[in-house]
Amino acid sequence: MTVSQRPALLGGRPLAAQPLPIVRPRFPALAEIADDLEQALATGHVTNHGPHVQRFEQRLADMLGVSAVAATNCGQSAVMLLLRAAGVTGGEVIVPALTFSATPHAVAWCGATPVFADVEPGGFGLDPRDAERCITDRTTAILAVDPYGIPCDREALVALGEAHGVPVLFDAAPAFGARWDGRPIGGEGDGSAFSFHATKAFSTTEGGCVSAPAGSTLVARVAVLRNFAQVRGADCDEPGMNAKMTEFAALLGLAQVDDVTRRIDHRNAIAVRYRAALAAVPGLRTAAPPSRATPAWLYYPILVDPTTFGLNRDELVAGLAAERIQARTYYSPACHLLRCYAQPRQRPLPQAEDVAARVVALPVYNDMTVEECDTITAAIRRLHEHAPDVRARLAAIATPPGPSLDPDPDPSPGPDPETAGGVARSTS
Ligand SMILES: Cc1ncc(COP(=O)(O)O)c(C=O)c1O
Repeated sequence: MTVSQRPALLGGRPLAAQPLPIVRPRFPALAEIADDLEQALATGHVTNHGPHVQRFEQRLADMLGVSAVAATNCGQSAVMLLLRAAGVTGGEVIVPALTFSATPHAVAWCGATPVFADVEPGGFGLDPRDAERCITDRTTAILAVDPYGIPCDREALVALGEAHGVPVLFDAAPAFGARWDGRPIGGEGDGSAFSFHATKAFSTTEGGCVSAPAGSTLVARVAVLRNFAQVRGADCDEPGMNAKMTEFAALLGLAQVDDVTRRIDHRNAIAVRYRAALAAVPGLRTAAPPSRATPAWLYYPILVDPTTFGLNRDELVAGLAAERIQARTYYSPACHLLRCYAQPRQRPLPQAEDVAARVVALPVYNDMTVEECDTITAAIRRLHEHAPDVRARLAAIATPPGPSLDPDPDPSPGPDPETAGGVARSTS
């Protein structure tokens, strides 16, 4: 075995010539928006529902096939406004345990209690059967999620809500541009919230929006609530917040919105390539979305069986880091085990806990090349092939310093890819 065939952790050359960070946001050149931005800055009309935000909202509504959309300053505020506009000010909101912490946080900030339900066996979305078990007379909404940008099965959840007279809302923060039966998601149930954070396939740096089906008044309510709930001058009938989008964010969105379909299609081609290269690797389960879904693939999740793969998921992540490839363990821990929500009475949620314990989220970019994707899958296969030595090496690194018998103590992990994408982050 030559040095170059060995994993970087064992002294081989890192497979990625350039660091491959977990996300790689790209934005339009400033020149593309410079005239409009300069004009907005010159007039001082930079926020408070300016003309570019209005144009952006119309474009989003056309794209999603809904009658109206309300733009917001971020995804979490969009989820909070969605809940509040649907009437949630207390009670219990059923959420999947497998999601980013922003989902239960939004519920808690609306004065309601998140009640955690499990995800579907073999999938990632909220399990309608387990959600049904959680419904009580205290339930004020079901808030489903599209984890990793994979649309959850909306039909079963909407039917569940209708059967019990409970609003069904979607935290679609990771999934803007995803499709179901070929049509963009966003018009189902009682309403959806999206994020345009820099980690997403479509980004306005920070930003988000709320959409709802035609005929709904929910978006109009969100538009009031995001502006301090002011209705008549400065008077307010209820507590509002400031969640308005800026003109700068809207201009960035307008400059990219025509590219969303291409981006989503490209991400799906990358996911297909990941799957083809990894499905046969012993001990890996690759993500297979529902057949009717076209995900927005924020990341590509794989599940690691340590016994068969030879490494646990943390060892795999460490091995990839040495190859200059940044993978993450989203969404882990599952949200019902976060310190702020864990409680002794919480029942086990085996599916969500299993995913959270074994998942590795691999990078997917709007401009990921097939060579970059192949580098990542080659690194994973190489780590599997050398699993016993990789495990021993990691154990040696973790052992407190003592007399070293290792002839090659430098694993040469290369530059830290954590900040290589330009967005230092600890969020999904
Ligand atoms: C499921 C989910 N909900 C809400 C959010 C919050 O979105 P933002 O970061 O735009 O506030 C995120 C962020 O990634 C998310 O993944």
